[in-house]
Amino acid sequence: MPNFFGRGEELGAARAILRRTRATGTGAVIAVTGEAGIGKTALITELRQWAAGDGFATGHEAAQESGNIAPLAPLLTALRSGPAPVLSQADFGALAAHAALPIWLVDRLTDQLRARATVTPILICVEDLQWADAVTRYALRVLPAQLVSSPIAWLLSSRLPIDALADDVAVHAIPLGPLPLSVAGAGGNPLLAVALAQGRLTEAVRHMLSALPPAAMKLLSTAAALGPSSTVDSLGAPPDRHALARLVREGFLADDGERLHFRHELLRQVLLIWMD
Ligand SMILES: Nc1ncnc2c1ncn2[C@@H]1O[C@H](COP(=O)(O)OP(=O)(O)OP(=O)(O)O)[C@@H](O)[C@H]1O
Ligand SMILES: [Mg+2]
Repeated sequence: MPNFFGRGEELGAARAILRRTRATGTGAVIAVTGEAGIGKTALITELRQWAAGDGFATGHEAAQESGNIAPLAPLLTALRSGPAPVLSQADFGALAAHAALPIWLVDRLTDQLRARATVTPILICVEDLQWADAVTRYALRVLPAQLVSSPIAWLLSSRLPIDALADDVAVHAIPLGPLPLSVAGAGGNPLLAVALAQGRLTEAVRHMLSALPPAAMKLLSTAAALGPSSTVDSLGAPPDRHALARLVREGFLADDGERLHFRHELLRQVLLIWMD
């Protein structure tokens, strides 16, 4: 499989937004969503490279599943990442005085980013918002709105729908669906397809399921034992509605109104092996 293929439409749409951000000097938010392994990071990596080559200052960081070292860490780390960080060392140091005061911190950051954007357009990528702390989520709601008159694009990703984004700024949703892959059982998921080819399928499945709470994990295992598809009733009475909704929302099961179907047969097969 080549390093990157497909996604022409998504890349085109996102590049158009970045060009517009720079040409008009107005901010934009791009929200990339999709299941684990579907290619959010791969798409964002392509876009970052393109934007950097096109004169954007760029920064990138992902929220951590195991918790972040401090409130706002994903965003602040993004702004200090790479060979030419968006924020200078001096700007970053000046923020330290507000470290314990998130609202002041975000306010200072607004001024710093506004000043920086007068010199160069900026692309700020913050990934895996499903794990972001409350201050990061607050900042990503407030900053794009306050900086709407600056050429700053916010490229965000999450396994779950990204809600509660700024009202006053254009938010462009890029939901990622399956890729046209001819790997049986992978359901168009490049992580599963690549892992199968490289002989590390269980590792990939563990990665995909790592964020699931125990109740959802248990339900998924029960469903796996019942076959490629099952009815809600057959899952045991009464199934945990919250857990079930999450499995559908994260793209592990598809609900056609009558039956629940595994989206990836490969994933089901691995679950069966684990249960043995
Ligand atoms: N368009 C693509 N072409 C080729 N390979 C791809 C493509 N998209 C993703 N991949 C490969 O599939 C694997 C998973 O992709 P990626 O890490 O981008 O998923 P993700 O959506 O960011 O997952 P997570 O939610 O776990 O962060 C990687 O090995 C990546 O290189
Ligand atoms: Mg990713």
